[in-house]
Amino acid sequence: MFTAMKRGAAGMAKLRGKVAATSSVEMVEVVLPNDANLLGNILGGKVMHLIDIAGAIAAHRHSRSAVVTVSVDDLDFVLPIRVGQLIILQASVTRAFRTSIEVAVKVYREDLITGERRQTSSAFVTYVALDEKGQPKRVPPVIPRTAEGKREYREAMSRRRHRLAAAARAHRLYFEEKKT
Ligand SMILES: CC(C)(COP(=O)(O)OP(=O)(O)OC[C@H]1O[C@@H](n2cnc3c(N)ncnc32)[C@H](O)[C@@H]1OP(=O)(O)O)[C@@H](O)C(=O)NCCC(=O)NCCS
Repeated sequence: MFTAMKRGAAGMAKLRGKVAATSSVEMVEVVLPNDANLLGNILGGKVMHLIDIAGAIAAHRHSRSAVVTVSVDDLDFVLPIRVGQLIILQASVTRAFRTSIEVAVKVYREDLITGERRQTSSAFVTYVALDEKGQPKRVPPVIPRTAEGKREYREAMSRRRHRLAAAARAHRLYFEEKKT
């Protein structure tokens, strides 16, 4: 009992916060024909894949452990990205909760010839850190430093409430076996 209490207390010890910028990620790729649809624009699925990778690296850097994707908020494709243009992804951790980490990923296109850069998508992705047994593990809090980072940090709580409520609703409707 005493050991369990001691372990419990140790488990609850406060983890040291980490500055958001230390886990930020920027990824750049040139769009190749193999990643494009018949119109010569990058496939939405390819963009989603890159968003997940960039976000996971940021979450991984923040937690220094394995992470899995648990949720992606709304994702819109506002502008096309054409073959031969660059796709640029910027991912930064906005807030960490107990075992989950919210990451904001912004997507841009850049034209190599004109240098014009426009934002094409943005998404909030949530990851869960796992221990060596595959169980959710606690993660350090995020320390936001910039004005935008502080705003994202504040707003993350209400985004989390909405996404958990939406997930619970969806699970009730589509996942759980109907009780007879
Ligand atoms: C992620 C996973 C381990 C969570 O398992 P779980 O039994 O729900 O664990 P918990 O209830 O302890 O929740 C763990 C965390 O996930 C969060 N979470 C669970 N569902 C969520 C959702 N839909 N959106 C956001 N966060 C969610 C919880 O809030 C909790 O975060 P917190 O500790 O910071 O409060 C499990 O759902 C899983 O393995 N999913 C598959 C992940 C995967 O394979 N992803 C690749 C794409 S398929």
